[in-house]
Amino acid sequence: MCGIVGGVVQNNLVAILMEGLGRLEYRGYDSAGLAVLNKQGIRCKRVLGKVKALRELLETEPVSGNTGIAHTRWATHGKPSTANAHPHICRNKVAVVHNGIIENHEQLRKQQLENGHQFLSQTDTEVIVHEIFDAMKTSGGLLSAVMQTVKKLEGTYALGVMSSDEPGSLVACRKDSPLVIGIGNEGYFIASDVAALLQVTQRFVFLEDGDVAAITKDKLVIYDVNEHEVVRTVKESLLTADFFDKSGYPHYMLKEIYEQPFAILRTLEDRFINNRLQDSAFGENAAAIFNYIKAVQILACGTSHHAGLVARHWFEKLARVPCDIEVASEFRYRNPVLAADTLIVVISQSGETADTLAALQEAKKLGAKYSLAICNVPESSLVREADLVLMTRAGPEIGVASTKAFTTQLTALMLLVIAVGKRFHLSEEKAHNLTAQLFNLPGNIKKILQLNNEIKALSEQFSQKQHALFLGRGSHYPIAMEGALKLKEISYIHAEAYPAGELKHGPLALIDADMPIVTIAPNNSLLEKLKSNMQEVSARGGQLIIFTDESLDTIADGNVQVVKIPQVDNDISPIVYTIPLQLLSYHVAVLKGTDVDQPRNLAKSVTVE
Ligand code: AGP
Repeated sequence: MCGIVGGVVQNNLVAILMEGLGRLEYRGYDSAGLAVLNKQGIRCKRVLGKVKALRELLETEPVSGNTGIAHTRWATHGKPSTANAHPHICRNKVAVVHNGIIENHEQLRKQQLENGHQFLSQTDTEVIVHEIFDAMKTSGGLLSAVMQTVKKLEGTYALGVMSSDEPGSLVACRKDSPLVIGIGNEGYFIASDVAALLQVTQRFVFLEDGDVAAITKDKLVIYDVNEHEVVRTVKESLLTADFFDKSGYPHYMLKEIYEQPFAILRTLEDRFINNRLQDSAFGENAAAIFNYIKAVQILACGTSHHAGLVARHWFEKLARVPCDIEVASEFRYRNPVLAADTLIVVISQSGETADTLAALQEAKKLGAKYSLAICNVPESSLVREADLVLMTRAGPEIGVASTKAFTTQLTALMLLVIAVGKRFHLSEEKAHNLTAQLFNLPGNIKKILQLNNEIKALSEQFSQKQHALFLGRGSHYPIAMEGALKLKEISYIHAEAYPAGELKHGPLALIDADMPIVTIAPNNSLLEKLKSNMQEVSARGGQLIIFTDESLDTIADGNVQVVKIPQVDNDISPIVYTIPLQLLSYHVAVLKGTDVDQPRNLAKSVTVE
């Protein structure tokens, strides 16, 4: 899940590499490094920690060069350390940055040790640089050495490689890890994500699996997996560098929470004609595919999985569409039974989550004929692999904790429920009603954002706590799960979610005065049942924090705090109830002084298994 950036230009490349690295930090922030080529050869600087630490090092120990590669790491093989930081270099001749995992690294390492190579790190990556070094002795150049080397690699990789033997050139390649080529006015660049290069270009080529690219400052040549020269389409990105500043907010997460009304509106825009949702919003063949399918199987990870859990309620309750959902990492190894007419719906913010991609491939192997991706990154692998696509238009989400991606995923999923549901039992009238609820969302979310100060005050109760419980029922149980995930992810408080009816089957034993219990209690058909569950908690001294749109006087006493949420239609309320939980976890994390946008041990895009 690391981030790589590189390029070849006329003058010094270091500022471009550093800016790019800063925008890739969401992919990992255990260590950072760069290597440049100049007349003296390869110059490399690496640090343990974030890009900021590398920037500080470069102030005291500057380097410059017109060819370079840089890396920000999320540790897989080998602990976070300077020795394990990339670039890895072999005998001052070849330097490599890598995103991915080399599965046969042990076997290659054994062989290379026998050939006299010394290993300076515990990484899987180091075998690549030694392999290229050896291949260069016979292959006649860096490009063919890289081509020869990748044939020996098992696993996933995006690579940037340079050699002191070939100043002014860079070789890049990918397999199952993202890599784009940026076409700038002053040269060519490589990066894990377009975000890293927006300061120099908006024109990109997205490399395909198996592609190898040879880059100089004025030339780009791409070879496909069979080593034939190919021309890949140049695409214009609509993103600009301004997407990546905090716009005055102290953290990206808070900015992204506040962006939700607009992000949801953008996700809804242009999908309707005369108030009717267009099948074509999902892709060219959507109408035929929706007519064909008989059931839905959702696959996703983390927050995206929680969005899918809500959607299962919607598919089955509102439209009687049979719907199953599974965590992608489990599905891919379970050998499930799948009918050809089951639509596979994959949900992912990044579109690069390795388990979700693998689950989609597995579903295809198992015989599912069609798939649909709900995704936030237009050129991602998932978007390229699915038959149909509905983009969430949340804009770049930088905070590791997913916020606007989740609520736009839910919005997109409700659009899918309407489109597919009309072929099942969703009436025209209900479809109109759900559409109206969707368009009311931005206004309702704005009202909830006004509760920020009230929720901030509540967060003080959590700052000394070790544990928390989140309760919900029905389609709000996944929202409780999402609330618990947000709290543990950024404040490091252990939090669990339960369907409230499960309490007395075990978790009630945990309740005491030290246990905050966050309850999502909208006024719906399950409220009376939920009230009984809350009474059970209150009677045992638990501290209840209730988010509701209803008067709950019956259980209000010293241990109960109620936050009143503006009333919304029940179908859509899971989206609305998400917002106060995001704000709560944000404020708890700020109070605890954790790194809100880059919590420990995590990365935004989980491109390894
Ligand atoms: C959420 O806050 C997480 N950071 C994480 O659970 C995330 O949703 C998960 O890794 C899936 O990512 P994706 O949506 O990019 O596939």
